[in-house]
Amino acid sequence: MANSSKNDVEGDVETNFGFRRVPKSEHAGLVSSVFESVADRYDVMNDLMSGGLHRLWKQALIDWINPQPGMRLIDVAGGTGDVTFRFLENLDNSSDDNTAHQATICDPNNAMLKVAQTRALDKGFVRGIEFVEAPAEELPLENRSADVCTISFGLRNVTDRVAGLAEMHRILDFGGRFFCLEFSPAVAPILEPLYETYSNRVLPWLGEHVAGDREAYEYLVESIRRFPEPGALITEMEAAGFSKIQHRTMSGGIVAIHSGWRL
Ligand SMILES: C[S@@+](CC[C@H](N)C(=O)[O-])C[C@H]1O[C@@H](n2cnc3c(N)ncnc32)[C@H](O)[C@@H]1O
Repeated sequence: MANSSKNDVEGDVETNFGFRRVPKSEHAGLVSSVFESVADRYDVMNDLMSGGLHRLWKQALIDWINPQPGMRLIDVAGGTGDVTFRFLENLDNSSDDNTAHQATICDPNNAMLKVAQTRALDKGFVRGIEFVEAPAEELPLENRSADVCTISFGLRNVTDRVAGLAEMHRILDFGGRFFCLEFSPAVAPILEPLYETYSNRVLPWLGEHVAGDREAYEYLVESIRRFPEPGALITEMEAAGFSKIQHRTMSGGIVAIHSGWRL
């Protein structure tokens, strides 16, 4: 690895990739290779690793969003589409308002997006859904084009969080709402020993023997530890322009949902 003074001279500062320090310019490529390698097994691994809990966490996010007819959703780091599909499945179709909804799954990883496209077809979602290949830091989307912007288990992977949060604020309409569902490093002390063992031993083992990629799952564990605690994330959201920020934790602090408005 190049030393930091050399990096400074070249204007290529370092950042964290899990517990490693890497040149910032290499971070997105390294993250991309993680998801490229796990895309096909991503959904199975999610169930296995979380014991199915990720489904409850995502449903809690959707319940908080309370999807309504006509809502425009942009799901950043949308991956294989879980949050978007739940959003569409939970749209309240009971009212007479037939305004068409619009859902956009945005992700920089082509392999993840391809899985999302196949799943969308399998689920019969053809109209009102689109797929955009782009990172959170540079969303090729119009200003104020969403009522709801979600990022689920994605913000941890974003190389430049300041730019990513600013972009997600920009694409929200006035009165629109941002939601971030993410693992949190602030786990309840009583759970810590168990959580540490699970993170350090079980997850990498599952990564190696089930997903065939130990490194990818070590990256997962390490990136969670590096992610800001709820208070720090609130400060970053405020700096990006979000208002009336709230957060809820679940499963003893293992995950948190942060929400903020664009006013
Ligand atoms: C753990 S998956 C989450 C997928 C999905 N949102 C879910 O909850 O199941 C993380 C996703 O973040 C994407 N990602 C990585 N770097 C990103 C970036 N800079 N901007 C947006 N998404 C990114 C990856 O390609 C991957 O699909």
